[in-house]
Amino acid sequence: MFHERQREFGRTLTAIQLHQQGHHGWSLLHQALDDLLSTKDAIFCRLLNAVWAARPDISDAHLVTLIGAAVRQIAQRERETAVLFDSSRDVATRLDILRQLVMQNEAELGKQICGRSNSFTGARRFLAPQLIIGGFAAEHQIDEVRFLDLGTGLGILPRQLNNEVVYNRFAKDLVWDPWEPEYRVIPLTVRYGVDAPPLPNMDWVRACYGPSRYYEERFQELMWSFEQTAGVESDVLIRELDMLDLPRLADFILTNQFNVVTCNFALFQYAQSVQEAVERCVVQNMASPGLFLTMNPSHALLRPGCQVRGRLVGNTSELQLADASDAHLIGTIIAGTDLPFIIGQRKRAGSE
Ligand SMILES: C[S@@+](CC[C@H](N)C(=O)[O-])C[C@H]1O[C@@H](n2cnc3c(N)ncnc32)[C@H](O)[C@@H]1O
Repeated sequence: MFHERQREFGRTLTAIQLHQQGHHGWSLLHQALDDLLSTKDAIFCRLLNAVWAARPDISDAHLVTLIGAAVRQIAQRERETAVLFDSSRDVATRLDILRQLVMQNEAELGKQICGRSNSFTGARRFLAPQLIIGGFAAEHQIDEVRFLDLGTGLGILPRQLNNEVVYNRFAKDLVWDPWEPEYRVIPLTVRYGVDAPPLPNMDWVRACYGPSRYYEERFQELMWSFEQTAGVESDVLIRELDMLDLPRLADFILTNQFNVVTCNFALFQYAQSVQEAVERCVVQNMASPGLFLTMNPSHALLRPGCQVRGRLVGNTSELQLADASDAHLIGTIIAGTDLPFIIGQRKRAGSE
């Protein structure tokens, strides 16, 4: 059962060790998983088969990240398994520890991998939506933004909007080219975030961060953002909603009359036809004038970078709004050709 799929998954594990993300701590685990699969470990193969039976459409790339997070979650509480991420330990020791971890935690691993998504959350991702939504509201003279974030994770983005302290700290590390949109306060009246059930908790989100100094810094930024935005906690409503359930999604958007919806780093994991169906459902049910913003990796996670795209209610074309050099929004972000169409004004990069 699933023999060809196992071989293909093995090829993905080998290829992913060369991926830039590996440099942020995951490659040791990818190597150990590759080795475990090569030995045809019966329990690991049984676990993989159970996942493929439960989630036939899961991509290899998503499965690798889910196994990583599920193993890391266990390693965080069982200190002796932390050696899995310790490059000073030899390959055979790490393989042995992984074999035991899988054997002792097969049921838990299966539950997490079958039931969850990768919930890595970027604390800086709101930088682009802040400027684009603020400009959109000003350009269209919208005095009430009813906001929804799809695939929100813990709901940090809806909290961060309009927080100038958080914005100013992170904006320093993101350079717009060739021009920078103006910061504007968004006239937010409603802030919602939804994620698929079961809602991710902090423990799971933490496990989705790579075991490296780089990701430790990103996680600290997330924690700091939660502290800084504690004042709006009660304004942000988080709900369980599977956005693939299109009738429910449509009803939720219509009922709440959302006119700005974002969806960051969630849609890319689905087939193109599924992404398009969700986008159509969102845009057809939003209030007008309305803006749907998406952010997705540029190169299917094989290289850094992300694309910010938009759709206006009543207009079928996809708008090129920005391209960032790094999915964590550190570095450079190129203003897209359609950005002036949305926000109607330009400010040269570096001008006052
Ligand atoms: C990689 S995280 C991104 C979190 C956050 N939006 C960000 O960009 O930092 C993707 C999130 O989308 C959620 N997600 C995936 N499929 C979903 C679905 N069908 N409905 C709702 N949320 C979903 C996952 O649970 C996860 O929390």
